[in-house]
Amino acid sequence: MCGITGCIGDQEAAPVLMRGLKRMEYRGYDSAGIALLNQNGIEIRKAKGKLDVLEAHIQGNMPQGSVGIGHTRWATHGEPSDVNAHPHTDMKGEIAVVHNGIIENYLKLKHWLISEGCEFVTETDTEVAAHLLNYYDGGDMLQTIYKVMSVLQGSFALGIISSRNPDSLYCVRKDSPLILAKTSGASFFASDISALLEHSREVYLLEDMDVACLTKGDIVIRDGFGKVVRREAMRVDWSLEAAEKGGFEHFMLKEIHEEPKALRDTLNSHLSQDGAAISQDEMPVGAEEARRLQKITILACGTACYAGMIGRMLFEKLARVPAEVDIASEFRYRDPIVSPGDLFIIVSQSGETLDSIAAMREAKRLGGRVIAITNVVGSSIAREADAVLYTWAGPEIAVASTKAYISQIMVLTLMALDLAQKRALITEEEAGEALEELKRIPQQIQSVLDQKEVIQRFAHKTFDYNSIFFMGRGLDYALAMEASLKLKEISYIHSEAYAAGELKHGTIALIEPGTQVVMMATQDALLEKTLNNIKEVKVRGAQVLAVVGEGVGGVAEEVEEVWYIPRTNPLFAPMVGIIPMQLYAYYVALEKGCDIDQPRNLAKSVTVE
Ligand code: G6P
Repeated sequence: MCGITGCIGDQEAAPVLMRGLKRMEYRGYDSAGIALLNQNGIEIRKAKGKLDVLEAHIQGNMPQGSVGIGHTRWATHGEPSDVNAHPHTDMKGEIAVVHNGIIENYLKLKHWLISEGCEFVTETDTEVAAHLLNYYDGGDMLQTIYKVMSVLQGSFALGIISSRNPDSLYCVRKDSPLILAKTSGASFFASDISALLEHSREVYLLEDMDVACLTKGDIVIRDGFGKVVRREAMRVDWSLEAAEKGGFEHFMLKEIHEEPKALRDTLNSHLSQDGAAISQDEMPVGAEEARRLQKITILACGTACYAGMIGRMLFEKLARVPAEVDIASEFRYRDPIVSPGDLFIIVSQSGETLDSIAAMREAKRLGGRVIAITNVVGSSIAREADAVLYTWAGPEIAVASTKAYISQIMVLTLMALDLAQKRALITEEEAGEALEELKRIPQQIQSVLDQKEVIQRFAHKTFDYNSIFFMGRGLDYALAMEASLKLKEISYIHSEAYAAGELKHGTIALIEPGTQVVMMATQDALLEKTLNNIKEVKVRGAQVLAVVGEGVGGVAEEVEEVWYIPRTNPLFAPMVGIIPMQLYAYYVALEKGCDIDQPRNLAKSVTVE
């Protein structure tokens, strides 16, 4: 999704802006641009396409100036094009803005501004902000910004420069993340910590409706009422290298290889010091609440939602609490029934997904208690939830989520075990044994990674399929959904995930000689039934790849290809079972020459509805 950045300091701003934009590339974008303030006024360079197009465009013609703003755009209003790329200006070209989010009432404002004589050159919603800033400018930029904020509806983070105020850079936040940093001679803002790390490890998170005025080495933040406020500094522990490829061809492959560490870090952070029990400082549901618990609703989008589906089954199987999963974008529009004290879990890697934020707010408004599971400290979801459990997967840059997904499952598993213990369904000893099994999972994942060549060879043979069906029962069904999503996201191969028993109620009509079917079969208790489903598709000519636990007999002879994964408690098997599927998606996309880390049309953090 769009990334914005800005800087003001002693050095030339354009290279700094370009580096910042590069660090935010992973968010997904289709055009980019920068605006610099200098003695000639505002100079803009922008271009459709990736940053290298913009780079080529400014080669030898780099705009000068030590104050500037930059943007990577993920098109929502108006096609990706040079003209729709940000920054956008008012008619005189004296004010330039970059914007992340959506101005919901832009059409109304646009019509009104046109009636006031404004001429629009783009199809974007953002352009109204530039015209409004000019329209209301009475000489005091801060007052102008407050006025404009009062008429804008929707979500927006804006970066603003004005040739009438050449010594300042402004930014505002409403429902779209914005982070600040400063050094002795310069100040910066960005929608993403990664763009600021080269300048400082200490960052300041703006709150909703904050307006910041940045000057060389100084930042003044005002809240929505114009009062100067202090925002706590947050120390960022991860290094710049953590957000780099470290010798791997793609971030996705690097992040898959980081999964053992991500799981270990996530698990350890939620255990007592001796590692023998779940740390009670961390668990947000007390013993009394656990006993009374009537229902858990998990809200999330995309991969996080599929992690939620695994969580739902664990809450029901281990803790015997009725649980459901709702797609966050659907939840608030279906008039949900919430009883006071109902427990909600919002799962979000970024903590900034707008649909998840909106669902969280709706759950809270209706009286629910909200626990967040997120990977980003200080994110909007982390800050607004009643309690937070962090995944410690480290920065995840590839759009397709891998290490964050299994870390989310780990946290959900720990919550389910904790509830089971508090509801007296398992003893302390049984919980301890489960933790010991969980501690072995990183090593088991490593052993799958060590056999990645087998998966790569299979991908080489099968990458040109037009369509693939993923199937499974129980937890394997949830796993099949994530496996299918991974393949679609990065290889653009059409795929469907089906509950294996449901296939015959319609979809089996699509199975014909040569159709590729992937059967997830990590759940021994359901194996016999799964084998029947394999036979059903085989007799119709399907080619089958099966993923099963080591030592499971009777499958290899039924299918064309079988991959064995190390055995663990079946309830924990999804964390191991997804690894070959992530690698398969990766190698298929590699064979097809796809843009693996930034698949077409996708964004890492979807900050629009
Ligand atoms: C986008 C990404 C997905 C991600 C989903 C939820 O659609 O492309 O990879 O799973 O958002 O993101 P979140 O940050 O809330 O987990």
